[in-house]
Amino acid sequence: MAKYVINGGKKLSGEVKISGAKNATVGSLAASILTEEDVIIENIPDVWDINVMLDAIKVLGADVQRIDRNTVKINAKNANLTELSDFNLGKMRATYYFVGALLARHHKSKVIFPGGCNIGARPINLHLKGFTALGAKAYEENGFIITEADNLKGANIYLDIESVGATVNIMLAAVLSNGVTTIENVAKEPHVVDIANFLNSMGANIKGAGTDVIRIKGVKKLHGTTYSVIPDQIEAGTYMALAAITKSDITIKNIIPKHLESISAKLIDIGNQVIVYDEALRVIGSDVILPTNIKTMPYPGFPTDMQPQLACTLTLANGKSKIEESIFENRFKYVEEIKKMGAIISIDNTTIIIEGVKNLDGRKVVATDLRAGAALVLACLAANGVSEIDKIEYVERGYEDFVNKLKNLGADIERKEG
Ligand code: EPZ
Repeated sequence: MAKYVINGGKKLSGEVKISGAKNATVGSLAASILTEEDVIIENIPDVWDINVMLDAIKVLGADVQRIDRNTVKINAKNANLTELSDFNLGKMRATYYFVGALLARHHKSKVIFPGGCNIGARPINLHLKGFTALGAKAYEENGFIITEADNLKGANIYLDIESVGATVNIMLAAVLSNGVTTIENVAKEPHVVDIANFLNSMGANIKGAGTDVIRIKGVKKLHGTTYSVIPDQIEAGTYMALAAITKSDITIKNIIPKHLESISAKLIDIGNQVIVYDEALRVIGSDVILPTNIKTMPYPGFPTDMQPQLACTLTLANGKSKIEESIFENRFKYVEEIKKMGAIISIDNTTIIIEGVKNLDGRKVVATDLRAGAALVLACLAANGVSEIDKIEYVERGYEDFVNKLKNLGADIERKEG
């Protein structure tokens, strides 16, 4: 079990380059099994979740070559298997994208039920509803998601909730179906648009990604592609929050500023300066952090994946803040950890109330999930004294080179085994 040891309380400065988006890459990797031709994906982040997805593609029988750390070449000509049951796969979320992809390619799939961060119930009823509408049998049985279809036919599907996973999974299943599929009330997150663009670069006919309605005209066949994944919105947002909580001056490079507007707006609200360039942002942290209220919302609203990082930042505000979590019902597990450092936070159902304090103190804390772990790193970097963070495996699922990137900004952080 590895941990981070952090000596906090220092101002940071410099530039950080953002990696490719994890939540876009997972969808594109699953999509790569939809053609027998070579698919080259550039700008993939070298993180645990992505490496597990690549292992799964190999298990299905595809040839996977790592051209360099951030580029992979996949040939799925021999990917004839339709079952994924490896234990590691059950520990992550995005393996459910193989259900849609296998259904499209082989008209059947048996995939271990997805795990991932424990931040709420995370049902998959909307995914199953979509597959069923396309003409498949789709159900959960003994810890597996099972699908089967003679033919997939275009359908009109309305999502009760703007689910990222259901939107992507139904797109994957529908690209090779007969006829037109319309999905209404879809998720509009940048990674959803990127996966649609990736599929279109393979010859799919998907229109409307980024709006409320996606229309997919099924095609007979997809072809190979070379595609570069967009920068990671949440990794970028995490470094923006780092500048705010440590009152530092950090330039975040290789980003799409448009994707970060809701985060920039909140950072400006609480007193920071955000300077926007074409593909970079500079956050100049304010000496006084102002309190605010936040409600997490689907894109373009404030992302749930940034909720813990902003909550930790607001523990040091000069007043009372409120954050309402409207996407996942159990995303406050880190609150008990940050309270050990001196934060004053109370939980009222799906809202937290944060009474700002002057300082946080270094302590031993435990990462409770990916974004909560990253948020605790930020808090420990802002706190006085030495902290230790356990269970950093969570953080390493989604942040490439976290320790080195932080060290380059002047942070005193070490990764220790055991
Ligand atoms: C994706 O999860 C992301 N994961 C999450 O990122 C992110 O927090 C989330 O979208 C919201 O933006 C990946 O992309 C791999 P949803 P997903 O389906 O697809 C409910 C991170 O930190 N729902 O958009 O699982 C669900 O319970 C991770 O990188 C149903 O009710 O989220 C939730 O309340 C954590 N039925 C809401 O919809 C369904 O069938 C949104 O979930 C599906 C979802």
